[in-house]
Amino acid sequence: MTVERTFRSFAKINLHLAVEGRRPDGYHELKTVFQTVELHDRIRLRTTPTPGVSLAVPDGGAPADSTNLAHRAARAIFERWAPEGGVEIELHKRIPAGGGLGGGSSNAATVLAGLNELLDMGIPTQRLAEIGAEIGADVPYFLTGGTALGTGRGDRIEPLSEMPEETVWLVDPGVSISTAEIFAALVPPATRPPAAGLERLLAGEPAETIAELGGWNDLEETVLARSPEVRNVYNALRRAGASCVRLSGSGGTVFACFASSGHSEHANSALPAAARVVVTRTLSRSTMARWRIVEAGDRSER
Ligand code: C5P
Repeated sequence: MTVERTFRSFAKINLHLAVEGRRPDGYHELKTVFQTVELHDRIRLRTTPTPGVSLAVPDGGAPADSTNLAHRAARAIFERWAPEGGVEIELHKRIPAGGGLGGGSSNAATVLAGLNELLDMGIPTQRLAEIGAEIGADVPYFLTGGTALGTGRGDRIEPLSEMPEETVWLVDPGVSISTAEIFAALVPPATRPPAAGLERLLAGEPAETIAELGGWNDLEETVLARSPEVRNVYNALRRAGASCVRLSGSGGTVFACFASSGHSEHANSALPAAARVVVTRTLSRSTMARWRIVEAGDRSER
């Protein structure tokens, strides 16, 4: 029997990212706060009676071969659990690749959870997270979503109190940043700002807004020093009066919050021509769960 379902594969931003040291395995020990945003890719999964994993990326934006994390995730399921048949994956990309928004990792998590459901396999989420962590450090987060703390390589996930949903701008400076290069070149900042809101969130209380949360990104200085494109976007958003401006992950995407529409209009005219703006909003776990599956006949942009 063939079954088919289309899933939304949401992006994330890092509201906070502290690098706590280098690990013997070459990775870095992180303490990061992830947050789901509404921007998403769409992934259609269709089971086939014949074995094998196939992947199509009709609009481009990601490799349509076995290096794609969605393909790796499907192979991991078939290799470990050997369900009958195979799967065709159709990936429609909207999340920019190499942007610090976790698009590839989100796609992998969507395929892991989606196949688990479609094939009625009953694999516990914890087990999917272990497989996901082998594919990419951010994959386990996407199996939980919402506001969550990531420790270890960023792959040990604890859900936090949900932040209220709010509008954020995602600004892609038009450059792709190599995460491995940034970690290799990393110079941790000498001082870090106080972040009372962050401390409250980690203690179990919700923060009202991202601006109120505070927090920082330890990769930011290294990325800004190396990329004039990211620096120009970052400085333009600051000058325009955004109430929060921060690099997401290892960039190049910079996200920003605005307390008033006057500030955001100002930012629009101040940004470099090459910068691409996506106005999106943060999503709670419950909204994300409600929107995960694209219902038949739903052709809306969302
Ligand atoms: O796991 P992922 O493929 O996303 O990581 C890309 C690269 O970023 C790793 O190969 C590693 O060099 C670096 N990294 C790190 N510490 C982390 C996560 C990633 O050094 N916690």
